[in-house]
Amino acid sequence: MASSNSRISIVVSILLFASACAYAEDSPQEIKMRIGIGNPVEGKAKAIPCRVCHGDDDNPEEPMIPKLAGQYADYIQRQIYNYQEGTRSDPDMNRISSTLTNRRDLADIASYFASLKQMKGIPVANEEGEKLYLKRGCFNCHGEVGKGKPNYNSIFPIVGGQKKGYLIKQMKDFKSGERTTDISGIMTLVMNQMTYNEIVAVAEYMSGQ
Ligand code: HEC
Ligand code: HEC
Repeated sequence: MASSNSRISIVVSILLFASACAYAEDSPQEIKMRIGIGNPVEGKAKAIPCRVCHGDDDNPEEPMIPKLAGQYADYIQRQIYNYQEGTRSDPDMNRISSTLTNRRDLADIASYFASLKQMKGIPVANEEGEKLYLKRGCFNCHGEVGKGKPNYNSIFPIVGGQKKGYLIKQMKDFKSGERTTDISGIMTLVMNQMTYNEIVAVAEYMSGQ
């Protein structure tokens, strides 16, 4: 049967792809690449008001507050501009971002969060979510397990190990057009092809990485 052969070759190519994409999340080189132009030491003090909600490591308490630990500094900065412009809305973040007008301070704060040990979830087995992550091509942009691209492309946020509730909300916001921060529009296109249950499954898979 041709189909079992082709299935085997798909599995083999996935495994080869996975090994080619092995990454070292917190090597000094990787941290240097993701912190951008800011100063993480100065950023630590400047980020005190943020740490109240986002936590000091990768564990904000509230399920809807995202982890920022090990996220790309450039991505963090871009999201602050998005809250300022209103292409993303959240009452707390819109208010807080409007006060963050000093670019040096913002670069330092973003750099501090980027320098932390990268966010990590508690592994969960969600086969459907894992399949969807591959089938829908999420890995092409967010990396093999959601930890970004090996070439440190800060256009694509780290989503592996992020909070499940937060991930679901963002995907729903892309789908409904509430969040219009992806200028290519691809996140909205991809989400329009997914049902709510599929979004929950893929969020659970990503959160466990
Ligand atoms: C009162 C709690 C609170 C405080 C204080 C706070 N945040 Fe947030 N932050 C949130 C919530 C809630 C969200 C998710 C909003 C949404 O759904 O868009 C968020 C989202 C974000 C995001 C988007 C993350 C992503 O993965 O896209 C960034 C970046 C961010 N906050 C940075 C900051 C910075 C920098 C500060 C300090 C200047 C800060 N936050 C202070 C609650 C807070
Ligand atoms: C063609 C590239 C591309 C593909 C494919 C893609 N994404 Fe994205 N995704 C992006 C970009 C770019 C952003 C950030 C947009 C922005 O700057 O706000 C994003 C943002 C997200 C976010 C929000 C992260 C955060 O911290 O707020 C989630 C969740 C997400 N993607 C999940 C997925 C899932 C799940 C899939 C597959 C079903 C997928 N993406 C496929 C490019 C892509």
